[in-house]
Amino acid sequence: MLKYFNIFIIYTLSTLTTFATDKIIIAHRGASGYLPEHTIAAKAMAYAMGVDYIEQDVVMSKDNHLIVLHDHYLDRVTDVQTKFPDRIREDGRYYVIDFTLSEIKSLNVTERYYFDEKGTKNAVFKDRFPLFQSYFKIHTLEEEIELIQGLNKSTGGDVGIYTEAKNPSFHLSEGKDLSKAILETFKRYGYEDQRSKAFYQTFEIDELKRVYNKILPILNIDVKLIQLMGKSDYYKKVTTIEGLKDLSLYAYGIGPSLNMIIPNNSKDSILGLSSLVEDAHSVGMKVHPYTFRQESPLALTYATNYENLLDIYFNHVGVDGVFTDFPDLTVKFLMR
Ligand code: G3P
Ligand code: CA
Repeated sequence: MLKYFNIFIIYTLSTLTTFATDKIIIAHRGASGYLPEHTIAAKAMAYAMGVDYIEQDVVMSKDNHLIVLHDHYLDRVTDVQTKFPDRIREDGRYYVIDFTLSEIKSLNVTERYYFDEKGTKNAVFKDRFPLFQSYFKIHTLEEEIELIQGLNKSTGGDVGIYTEAKNPSFHLSEGKDLSKAILETFKRYGYEDQRSKAFYQTFEIDELKRVYNKILPILNIDVKLIQLMGKSDYYKKVTTIEGLKDLSLYAYGIGPSLNMIIPNNSKDSILGLSSLVEDAHSVGMKVHPYTFRQESPLALTYATNYENLLDIYFNHVGVDGVFTDFPDLTVKFLMR
């Protein structure tokens, strides 16, 4: 009971303090630190914790439904191996595009797992929700938007959507225009311009350009675009000052991995700081790095605990928002 009361207090206070900060909190795959990622329960919990945006990773089914799931595979968060053993491909994976929506909805969802050398499923995050406990299902992008818009109506809130097209070039090679379908859905649900509480994000550089140059004009909409990026040669050019300048002509901002801003093994957050955030800001773009987890400091030499990590990024680096698995801790931090 006390737990629910705390969530209520956090929600109420965070709503009241929305005006005090322009930093945004994005629930990464929902409140995924507490419930299996991308489930409706995780999204509702994130909403109640007072976030600004809830993230959806989206892939497409065989019958062209938009599925909220991080991978274009089903075999790291479901029981697909026991329900559809003969649908495995030669590479050992179960592809979402090989399954219809009704088949996908017949699966049970669990915490993310990996297989050990004996072939046993093990939780990726040992201290999170137990594997294959309770009842969770996969849902569509439409169903999630209806949940968020429904909660906006019933609570008077204004939580937005932050939607990633997962591997759009893979989908295109399979004859499926994932980005177009996502943006058509945005339009159908009223997310049509830069003021809308909606972001479209992707890791693919050419796809973001295609969205800006082709898809948005065809649909006659103009939503905020985010270029996701990781530490690899693929992003070398786009992260130079010239590259960022070009990007800023069509992107609202960037979503870099934490180690693009401060290397994981940096002894000191100031000494290790790259110029990426300053450079992006200098050309007018916002910066929303990923992923802030309570467990993160264990792998970082420069942060002592989660609060310290938030303090470094919000108060010293000056990021404009964060993707977090722990929305409640992040809301609490910003309230202070
Ligand atoms: O989209 C931002 C962040 O979620 C990127 O990482 O792999 O969790 O989608 P990933
Ligand atoms: Ca994502």
